[in-house]
Amino acid sequence: MRTELLANDAQGLDTAADLLAAGQLVAMPTETVYGLAGDARSAAAVARIYEAKGRPSFNPLIVHLPDLEPARRIADFHADALILADAFWPGALTMVLPLRPDAGVASLVTAGLDTIAIRIPAHPAARALLRRFGGPLAAPSANPSGRVSATSAAHVIAGLDGRIAAVLDAGPCEVGVESTIVGWLPDGRPALLRPGGIPAEHLEAALGRPLAHPQLDPSAPNAPGQLTSHYAPGAPVRLDAEGPEGDEIFVGFGREGDLTLSATGDLVEAAARLFDVLHQADALGRPIAFAPVPDHGLGAAINDRLRRAAAPR
Ligand code: TXA
Ligand code: MG
Repeated sequence: MRTELLANDAQGLDTAADLLAAGQLVAMPTETVYGLAGDARSAAAVARIYEAKGRPSFNPLIVHLPDLEPARRIADFHADALILADAFWPGALTMVLPLRPDAGVASLVTAGLDTIAIRIPAHPAARALLRRFGGPLAAPSANPSGRVSATSAAHVIAGLDGRIAAVLDAGPCEVGVESTIVGWLPDGRPALLRPGGIPAEHLEAALGRPLAHPQLDPSAPNAPGQLTSHYAPGAPVRLDAEGPEGDEIFVGFGREGDLTLSATGDLVEAAARLFDVLHQADALGRPIAFAPVPDHGLGAAINDRLRRAAAPR
């Protein structure tokens, strides 16, 4: 794949929006860092994001929207969230909020969680692209996994050339660090999940109360690891199964099963289906056996997730 460098003008924005509508990936400038954007409604596009980044696991992604109104169709905004939205959006703030059941976002975006990270960026090019595209864009930082975030089109090309369709070049990012992420603990307290472009003190001033720091506070009911803890099925999970035993639901890879990750052994398709298959299998309330999935490319992330699902709890 040749990675196209698109100018930040009407033609470049149109091309970027068309590529995204076709399920391709485009690096999008935001005021914090460049994001590796794909259609959040398309499981295949989201799977390609993980593939392009070479992420060894499925961290949930931030969904970007142009305005509050479409954001409210995807997540439930409580009073605190509306205060922060009013004070800091558009801007370098991401909020983790309850996912609406009718959100229409691929389950891979949230890694199967019932919360979703939402951001309305301020960068004019990001907003113009989001408007032209007309849907939610999932976008992690546009760097290969384990490397520093990209704050210019040249950084994006250095890391991802040949792995994505295009970069929308709007020059260097003003903020240069990722957005601040805020979530809410089960007891309702707001919590700083990641420091970033907006100082925590500004958020506390707007909310009129301090932010919990779950990573520092061992008495907090929910450490960030647990906040982002992945959806785990209630039933026992067995890996590397050649076929079902007893009452098991068999999940096929490279062949059909009771449920199927990919009959043809396509890792992108398997990643795109993974969380839906886990939810479906769980709903049946029977033990689950997974056919082996090769450990290269997206298979490493799929196997990471399956090992967590199979770990004794
Ligand atoms: O500035 C930014 O935030 C950039 C630009 C492109 O918007 N994006 C970014 O995305 O930094 P990423 O994927 O590199 O970081 C997203 C973080 C991850 O640490 C992830 O665990 C967390 O957001 N996250 C996403 N959804 C979550 C959820 N439902 N619950 C808790 N954490 C979540
Ligand atoms: Mg990142």
